[in-house]
Parts: sequence; C-alpha cells; structure tokens
Amino acid sequence: MRRLIDRLERDHKLTKEEWIAVITERADRDYLFERARTLAKQYYGNAVYIRGLIEFTNYCGNNCYYCGIRRDNSRARRYRLSEEEILDCCKEGYALGFRTFVLQGGEDGYYTDEKLEKLIRKIKTLYPDCALTLSIGERSRESYERYFQAGADRYLLRHETADHGHYRKLHPEELTLKKRMDCLWNLKEIGYQVGCGFMVGSPGQTAECLAEDMLFITELQPHMAGIGPFIPHHETPFAGESQGTAEQTLYMIGLLRLLKPNLLLPATTALGTIHARGREEGILAGANVVMPNLSPVGVRKKYELYDNKICTGDEAAECRHCLQGRIESIGYKLAVGRGDPVEDAGGNYV
Ligand code: 5AD
Ligand code: FES
Repeated sequence: MRRLIDRLERDHKLTKEEWIAVITERADRDYLFERARTLAKQYYGNAVYIRGLIEFTNYCGNNCYYCGIRRDNSRARRYRLSEEEILDCCKEGYALGFRTFVLQGGEDGYYTDEKLEKLIRKIKTLYPDCALTLSIGERSRESYERYFQAGADRYLLRHETADHGHYRKLHPEELTLKKRMDCLWNLKEIGYQVGCGFMVGSPGQTAECLAEDMLFITELQPHMAGIGPFIPHHETPFAGESQGTAEQTLYMIGLLRLLKPNLLLPATTALGTIHARGREEGILAGANVVMPNLSPVGVRKKYELYDNKICTGDEAAECRHCLQGRIESIGYKLAVGRGDPVEDAGGNYV
C-alpha cells in the first residue's frame, strides 16, 4: 500500500481500481497520517482555521433519507432565526475572534433571494474583514450569482456521494446527483470558494462509491471537502442503520490531504460525536479546519441532523475555548483571520 500512498502524494491522483484497493485495505494508516500531517504543515503550518457555524433555519423542503431535519420528520421542532438573531450571532462570533461566518440551513423557501441578498449585504457591511459562507442547498445559477454579487464568498454543498446508484439509495426520486453536481460546477464558475463532501459509512456505501468520491474531487478541485461519518437519526428511514467509523473517516481524511495538499479539510462535528477525541484525531490525520457552532443555545438541539450531536448545550464562547484547548493539546494553534486557501506548489488555489 505504501507504494500507492507514495504515488498519490507524488501525482495527486489514482485510478479507480487503485482507489478501491487503497480504500478497501486501509493499510499503513500511521504512515498515511504522517505524510498527511507533513503536507498540511508544509501548506498551513500548525494553524487550524476556525469557522463559526450559524444554523439559521431547520425548515427543509427535502426528504433525504439520512437527515434528521428532512421534510417528513414531523417530530422536528422547526425554527428560523430572525435577521436580528443572525446578526447577534455574528456579533458574538466576531468578539470571539471568528472571521468566517457560515450560514447553514435546510432548503427553506422562506428565505427568498431578496431576503438573502439583504442579509448578506448587511453582514458584509458590518464585517467587511470577514468571509461569508453559504450552505443552503440547491438553488438556481441565477440565485447563486445574486448571492455572490451581494458579497457571499464561499459555498458549501456536499455532494453526499458521487455514485449515481448510491445517490438513489440515499435520496428520494426528485433529487438527482446530476443536479447536485451541476450546482457545484455553477458555484465554481461563478467564483465562489467551493466545498463539496460526503458522508463515510452511509447505508449502501461501498469502496467503489468512495473511489467515485475521490475521482469527483480530483475533477472538481474544490477548495474544501467536508467529510464526516454517517450517524443514524431515530426519526428517519435510516434509524436502524449502523454508523460510519472513525477509523474509516480518518483514513479518508488522510487520503484527501495527499490528493490535494492545500485542501481545506474540516475535522467535523460528526467525527467529534462518534469519538471523544474525533476532531483532534482528524487534525492528526491531515484536517486543518474546525467549525464550531455559533447558533443560539436555545435552537441548537433542534438542528439535529443525526443523534447525539455534541455541543448542543454549550455557548459559543464555551465551544471556542474548548476547541482552542483541544487544538493546543496536540501542538496546533487556532488561526485568526479569514482562513482563505493557500496556493499549491503550482501556484494554484484549486
Ligand atoms: N449523519 C451524518 N451527517 C449527516 N448529514 C446529514 N445527515 C447526516 C447524518 N445522519 C450531513 C450531510 C449534509 C451536512 C449538512 O450534514 O452530509 O450535507
Ligand atoms: Fe463545543 Fe467542545 S467544541 S464544547
């Protein structure tokens, strides 16, 4: 396996068969993580970037089988933050040193393009030194263009799986992988810094599916890739499925670092949920971003994508300091600033 790991580091690509072999065997993990850490250090030093996540609506028109805020979960207690509440989150976050705000929500038609533009303009006027990330699902190219014009800098839209058959198992009829991928290409063309990503260990996922994810990321060349373990939610069709493992998630993080050394790679909340030191282990496997929650404590429990999500009772300041402690305990430091991607060896950002 070392041979393939070395070649991935050298060429930043593998064939589908090679990906399947590496992902199936999951061998030489200490070696992989050591190489991944070395690369992350080369590009980002010992800095871990921090992004403040504002979960501003849990209304969602979609019905993805894995997700706790899916439309048909009538048990979910729905909420929307007002503009004022969102701005309060930014204010608190700014004071805590955050220079990136991520507005994440379900696919909620209440937030029309007009409302979003107004909100984006306001945040960018109040905090011109901050980056603003949107994570609000699939919208038209025109809408994406409008948000970009209004000042949004980045967009996160996980592709969830790059295998068409697997996509069908995770989503109802009306959602297609083609449409999802078109959105990502549109976002990239418009000029956003783009994040895609996938769950590890979702029902029906095979090594071949994960190989497709790696090939898609090789092709798209996103600025960020968010990956975390699948964790069942009790009010979804996947309630009885088993969760993804930290081992496999960490291994995929290591491989992604070698695939694209300047990639922004979050150590996700889901990884921290299935393993007490998941986020620290994620950084030691090559991740370089953390995204603590800035949402008001009163709504946190309601943004329940999966069971037992961590940090739902903690204030923004507590998460900020908890994470700082965790990161410093492994010899890294939280970076202040927007945390834009750095150039790769060829002088490219993507
Ligand atoms: N387990 C893990 N991750 C999930 N997400 C949604 N539901 C789950 C779950 N049950 C992830 C999806 C989505 C992101 C916001 O959260 O990948 O894109
Ligand atoms: Fe939220 Fe540790 S990150 S309490």
